Amino acid sequence: MGLRKTEATGLVGWIDQRLSIMDAWNNHLAQYWAPKNFNVWYFFGSLALLVLVNQILTGIWLTMSYEPSAEGAFASVEYIMRDVEMGWLIRYMHSTGASAFFVVVYLHMLRGIMYGSYQKPRELIWIFGMAIYLLLMAEAFMGYLLPWGQMSYWGAQVIVSLFSAIPVIGADLAQWVRGDYLISGITLNRFFALHVIALPLVIAGLVVLHILALHEVGSNNPDGIDIKDNKDANGKPVDGIAFHPYYTVKDIAGVAVFLFVFCVVIFFFPEMGGYFLEHANFEPANPLKTPEHIAPVWYFTPFYAMLRAITFPMFGLDAKFWGVVVMGAAIAILFVLPWLDRSPVRSIRYKGNLSKIMLVLFAIAFVMLGILGALPSTPVRTALAQLGTAIYFLFFLAMPWYTRWESTKPVPERVTK
Ligand code: HEM
Repeated sequence: MGLRKTEATGLVGWIDQRLSIMDAWNNHLAQYWAPKNFNVWYFFGSLALLVLVNQILTGIWLTMSYEPSAEGAFASVEYIMRDVEMGWLIRYMHSTGASAFFVVVYLHMLRGIMYGSYQKPRELIWIFGMAIYLLLMAEAFMGYLLPWGQMSYWGAQVIVSLFSAIPVIGADLAQWVRGDYLISGITLNRFFALHVIALPLVIAGLVVLHILALHEVGSNNPDGIDIKDNKDANGKPVDGIAFHPYYTVKDIAGVAVFLFVFCVVIFFFPEMGGYFLEHANFEPANPLKTPEHIAPVWYFTPFYAMLRAITFPMFGLDAKFWGVVVMGAAIAILFVLPWLDRSPVRSIRYKGNLSKIMLVLFAIAFVMLGILGALPSTPVRTALAQLGTAIYFLFFLAMPWYTRWESTKPVPERVTK
């Protein structure tokens, strides 16, 4: 095959004739037409990318001094904090980065829900996003065992033992996951391998697919209308602007604000009052001493509250089993969201009042569950968690009805502000 013609010259031209980097540049940046009405909610995708890069880089450097063994893990983290040059900074960047990841991803998902970005033809973008979210939870969970503190140990103990709630195969499955009869150095070794290479590799691959799927169909926007429906004579959407330089430059503003807040946390509140790094984790893991109150890190607490909300056995199966089912269903139902929303419009701006009320209730219930999951349970808190769980599921399960019944507002032809 002969060499293709290219406009680029010099080194770029030489490479471009052998690997079409100019096409990629144009398709994904310089001639990727993004709607011109992106608002602050559209910062979180690029911020998630930034945090991903931060986690990978700081993770590589932590690995250089960390020791993945039950005997040495806790001490090696202390060594990183006290003796390794800038080790404290790298560790706090990584631990704060984990929480930042979830802040950014939760806001990114809320944006998708608000503007109906999961609706046809963007279902696959959403599915890839959900797969990333699921793996991100596994990644954070496994990472939390590595410092081998009390909460690392007992948190893993609680979560892995959930597998044993599955009838018949449960006990064997839990043992298979642990690689031992209880959480041990063997579990630590395998979590380390999965945390540092297997999951990051898959997550990074999924992020590439997520963005490729997005660029195939084009971005949604706060009005939820298709800019491709309105093109000029050259085939460029009239309401579209080039991603580069317009949004690459705009995203820098989001990055600046994010980094400011990120630095404030790292330098002044790295433990965030026990929410980012729990107090009990400054004590080495002790398999003979259960901490008084075991709670997961804040980003898992909404689901933990749902797990604990189920306090009654049903159909001959115990409460723990149903708790696990409810927790799993809470995540699984998000995957099918694109098929639950039957609204003729995408954005919450043009949906009816029922959708708006349900979205607000859903957000309140999720935050309430998050708070309840961090606190020891009492009868009142359990009742509130049951209410929150019911609202959470009602939002999804009733969606096919309320999105179809309610009357929507007319959608504009062109994007608004
Ligand atoms: C590592 C995690 C993730 C990264 C790096 C990431 C990255 C991105 C980027 C760069 C964009 C384009 C910019 C934007 O629209 O903000 C985007 C769009 C999108 N993401 Fe993600 N994402 C991640 C996780 C997720 C998750 C967990 C979901 C939902 C389950 C999700 C759903 C979406 C949707 C629906 C869009 C299209 C939005 C629209 O066009 O309005 N993403 N993502």
